[in-house]
Amino acid sequence: MAAVRSVLFLLLFCSSLAGPAQAAKVLMMGPSGSHWLNLVYLAEGLISKGHDVVSVVPSNMYDNQLRVLNTPARRKIHLERYEVPLEGDFFDRMIDLQVELSLGDNKNQSSFDSVWTFASEAFKIVAVGSIGTEECEVLVFDEKLISKLQQMNFDIIIIDPAMICGTIVARLLNIPLVIMEAPFIMSGFLEYATQAPVPVATFYSFRTDFRQRLKSLVWHCFAGALMRAYAGRFRPIASRALGYETTILELMAEADLFLMRGDFIMHPPHPAMPNMVYIGGYHVQNVNPLPKELERFLQDAGDAGVVVLSFGSYAKAIGMEKAEMLAAGLARVPFKVIWKFQGQRPKNTGENTLLMKWIPQNDLLAHPKTRLFITHCGINAVYEAMFHGVPMVRVPAFAEQHGNSDNLETLGTGVTLDIFTMTSDDLYEAITEVANNKTYKSAAVRLAQLQRDQPQSPMDRAVWWIEHVIRHGGLPHLKSAARHLSLLQYHLLDVAALLCGVVVAVVLVLCLCCRCCCRVLCGKKTAAKQKQQ
Ligand SMILES: *[C@@H]1O[C@H](CO)[C@@H](O)[C@H](O)[C@H]1NC(C)=O
Ligand SMILES: *[C@@H]1O[C@H](CO)[C@@H](O)[C@H](O)[C@H]1NC(C)=O
Repeated sequence: MAAVRSVLFLLLFCSSLAGPAQAAKVLMMGPSGSHWLNLVYLAEGLISKGHDVVSVVPSNMYDNQLRVLNTPARRKIHLERYEVPLEGDFFDRMIDLQVELSLGDNKNQSSFDSVWTFASEAFKIVAVGSIGTEECEVLVFDEKLISKLQQMNFDIIIIDPAMICGTIVARLLNIPLVIMEAPFIMSGFLEYATQAPVPVATFYSFRTDFRQRLKSLVWHCFAGALMRAYAGRFRPIASRALGYETTILELMAEADLFLMRGDFIMHPPHPAMPNMVYIGGYHVQNVNPLPKELERFLQDAGDAGVVVLSFGSYAKAIGMEKAEMLAAGLARVPFKVIWKFQGQRPKNTGENTLLMKWIPQNDLLAHPKTRLFITHCGINAVYEAMFHGVPMVRVPAFAEQHGNSDNLETLGTGVTLDIFTMTSDDLYEAITEVANNKTYKSAAVRLAQLQRDQPQSPMDRAVWWIEHVIRHGGLPHLKSAARHLSLLQYHLLDVAALLCGVVVAVVLVLCLCCRCCCRVLCGKKTAAKQKQQ
């Protein structure tokens, strides 16, 4: 009996030592589009280490999330669907609006008009529209669903911050929370949670001239206000679901780990806390051979090489006028061109141009024949180009793409074009300049060398930290205590007041002493004088 018990104990002991990270159960929650894809990349890393990944998805986003699970590894991500009485993917709508405004044929619209239209539309959506609040209510008040999730015994939940509901789910399930986000987005939350200051002048861009600083401040205030409005609408749901008054800011600050989809090569350095882990480029490591036909196309290009053009997942939204302008510019260059394009073929597409609905972008950029990359500066695309040392012609369109582009301009890896005003001549000239002037290539190669010179790959780092959180059931010791202090305590005003009081008291006592001494001495002197007289 004793032997059995000690064996059992040993087994238990060993299993607790090995920790749940051996084959952990990971819950993921994110919106659709590129944000979901970023979680999927991370899931691939976790699955390759033997972990199980489940994502709980409202029915209106189900198809959009499922579409991305198109490889054997990705199909291992299990989608747990729940019904919501809503049509249409709120996140997609928001992105579509931005894409439409920047890549569509908006005649007579300047970039300022476009930014203004987006800002006002975004506020309208956030203030009154459906932004996931209904989906969230259905989820957190469905006792059956929540208890099902509880019984699934997840070890950890990883969310994209745009899926605010995940912070409530984390508390309902009482499991450690990881937030994966791009630097620049939701900096207010990050600043509150980690208490690491966000230096507005240098947080968003390496450039610090007056215009850039003004731009940074405007973006900081706009994004902050938008996020506050967004989070504000989830606050009553959170308080009701959890049974205590709380805010989304507090729930986000409960996160054990912040996985930052950036690094200090492409982003300006800023103060960071130990639970902010930088994993920029975590998805670029695996390079696969190209399909045979594509490989032949690249080989046929000879020494001149190939230009790759992609506006990412938003390629479908390019307006016909813009597409024809791009096609005209591409037709003139003395290179072969691979263009990710999903739409009607522009009439003036050149002989040299191959249109493809989908491209294996990372594999193409890794190919030695790839000469340069024309990109909208989405962060993933940028990291792929950086990792493979490919110089870029940048055409930033929306969101943080302008910031990415500004940073790369400072780093010298290519030239920037304005999506609103560019002509086919501009495109032609930009391609010729970047292809022929060696400084861009050498800057790109330098960035690639920096990127590769790390003690572990960004994906390994991400997975290690997630397993670390799982093994220890959270990392409370890494959370800053500063957020629990009042302003008075944070700035040590009470301590300063006491010290000032002590100093004043000492000075007063000294003064009094001096005065007494003087009186006594003076008194003696006058007494002595009087005596003499
Ligand atoms: C754009 O401007 C031109 C004249 O500058 C005008 O004729 C046209 O109607 C405008 N288009 C739109 C969509 O406002
Ligand atoms: C190459 O590009 C750099 C950086 O833009 C520029 O300073 C230099 O003059 C260019 N060289 C030539 C030969 O155009």
